[in-house]
Amino acid sequence: MVCRRSSLAWLLLAVLLVQGGGSIRITRVRVPSWLEVGGQGDLDCWWEEDADHMYSIKWYQGAHEFYRYTPTARDPIQIFDPSTLDVDREKSWGGSVRIANVSLAAEGPFHCEVSADGPTFHTASDSATLTIIDLPDGAPVIEGVRSYYLAGDWVDLTCTSLKSKPAARLSFSINTEPASPGWLESQKDQLDGDGLTTSSLRLRFSLLPRLLQEDNQVRVECVSEIPGVYRMATYDVLSTNPPYQASVLGGGAAAAGTHSSLALIFPLLLSSMVAHQLL
Ligand SMILES: *[C@@H]1O[C@H](CO)[C@@H](O)[C@H](O)[C@H]1NC(C)=O
Repeated sequence: MVCRRSSLAWLLLAVLLVQGGGSIRITRVRVPSWLEVGGQGDLDCWWEEDADHMYSIKWYQGAHEFYRYTPTARDPIQIFDPSTLDVDREKSWGGSVRIANVSLAAEGPFHCEVSADGPTFHTASDSATLTIIDLPDGAPVIEGVRSYYLAGDWVDLTCTSLKSKPAARLSFSINTEPASPGWLESQKDQLDGDGLTTSSLRLRFSLLPRLLQEDNQVRVECVSEIPGVYRMATYDVLSTNPPYQASVLGGGAAAAGTHSSLALIFPLLLSSMVAHQLL
């Protein structure tokens, strides 16, 4: 037993010597998995040195070097702001960089490069990928709602979510049940020149009496979602009460209770943004 353990130790030492060889190594590169356009976050680079000593650390976005840390220099931090992001000098030191005001074009690989001083001048580099998210402009919008319907009428609605990256996933529900797949066309995604997608989903169904709930109404909800990041819902009420009836009953001039939409923001996005900013 003793013999096997000591030979295992020798083996480990041999592996370490072969792998290490006294050079400088990057042990971990971490960037936020995603940031919202205009947001901020921290990039971290960890390294290990044996015989070598770290001389400089550089951060690259794609091919562009935007940050250099050289502890022996009179001015240890140099920043070369790219057009895709800003570096917060106050919050950056060593291998850790706070980036802010990120644009869509900041998406992609970020490289950390650590160099040793002489006599070896070894260099190690590693990368991690940042995804930039642009949330839809406002809540989804449901179009095509008429002021009232007759039982059996065709309902033809389109829900639209404006300008996001990635494309939002749209879904309809009717009286809280998911709309039957046969009533839906496939979602249309239109990519514009800014790299943002406007998505729309069309729902068509016959206003069968069984769908009518109390007060002769059907509630239709559209949800726009970027899984894990964003979810927003809008609803409309379809009514078979003629408008004159509503204005008599309600005493007001308004049409029957249609177009009353409500948007709900779920705290998912906010909490994850806060988490990114606190890290
Ligand atoms: C981000 O942009 C704002 C507005 O242009 C600017 O005031 C701020 O200094 C920028 N942040 C950094 C870290 O450069």
